Amino acid sequence: MGLYHILETQQFKDRKVLEELFSLADQMKLFDKPNLTANERKQCYLLGLPQEPRKKIMACLFYEPSTRTRFSFETAMKRLGGETISTESAGMFSSAVKGESIGDMARITGQYADIIVMRHKMNGAATEAAAHSPVPVINAGDGSRQHPTQSLLDAYTINDELGRMDDLEVAMLGDLNNGRTVHSLAYLLAHRKGIKLYFISPKIMSMPHNIREYLQEKNIPFEEMAATEKQKIEDVLQKCDVLYVTRVQKERIEDKQELEEYEKYKEHYIVNNNWANLMKTDSIIMHPLPRVDEIAVEVDQNPKAAYFRQAANGLYVRMALLKMILDPKSV
Ligand code: NCD
Repeated sequence: MGLYHILETQQFKDRKVLEELFSLADQMKLFDKPNLTANERKQCYLLGLPQEPRKKIMACLFYEPSTRTRFSFETAMKRLGGETISTESAGMFSSAVKGESIGDMARITGQYADIIVMRHKMNGAATEAAAHSPVPVINAGDGSRQHPTQSLLDAYTINDELGRMDDLEVAMLGDLNNGRTVHSLAYLLAHRKGIKLYFISPKIMSMPHNIREYLQEKNIPFEEMAATEKQKIEDVLQKCDVLYVTRVQKERIEDKQELEEYEKYKEHYIVNNNWANLMKTDSIIMHPLPRVDEIAVEVDQNPKAAYFRQAANGLYVRMALLKMILDPKSV
């Protein structure tokens, strides 16, 4: 029986059709492996099944909005010759709507894909997925906790622009409490030599306690200040190698007081050319993007503005990461 539209099960009243379908499915299962032996390839040829090693598939499960991270991951996988399956609003369009747990989601997706890239609004979501997944899981942002691949491309950018990863004075500015990129970057820099950090934020948005504790354990010196402390800020701008700016993570702030507090001092947290010009010639301004209004557009033309180059680097760092995790020859 030729099959065309599949609309209802009554179409499958003929037992022979079911038997043919099941036996084909058995063959699909038998030959569902990354590499086939010469003998298996021959069998596939005789059965009219694909004989080439199958391409690796990356599943992107994004429960939160993303432009750069998802697009650069997808482009990276495609450039490496792999394939992608993707849902950009997993919270709305995946079985999460039906109440599926993160663990089950990872268990199932890992049977279709060779790697899972996941962004979720819950802290620890990727760790939970990894505990149940049969394939590697990459955390593309879990709540306000971490965004490790962003920090890898940030570190790449610093190294690319300044020629070193050690002996750096890095100032982080903005919502240091809720911004996950600055958390991951602080943890990453804590393992380099000669690092000095400056945390510039309203008190209510200061770097979380556990990260400050980690830095202390690793003997990484840091200073905290508010942008309203004009003299201190000018000093920092004059000596820092990197000014890393972040936006206020409005979507994560439940406490109205926190937002009101920020609104009060907002204009002090805007980087303009006056700030940029105080910085050393060979220093850079970074931002994970998206930018709202924390960097004035006039700064874009300044050679110190590295944020668009930083975003472009995301592709290459993610290509490298996927190649290191997956068997390179069969990506
Ligand atoms: C960041 C994020 O999602 O944490 N964006 C990104 O991945 N480049 C930063 C942000 O949203 O502010």
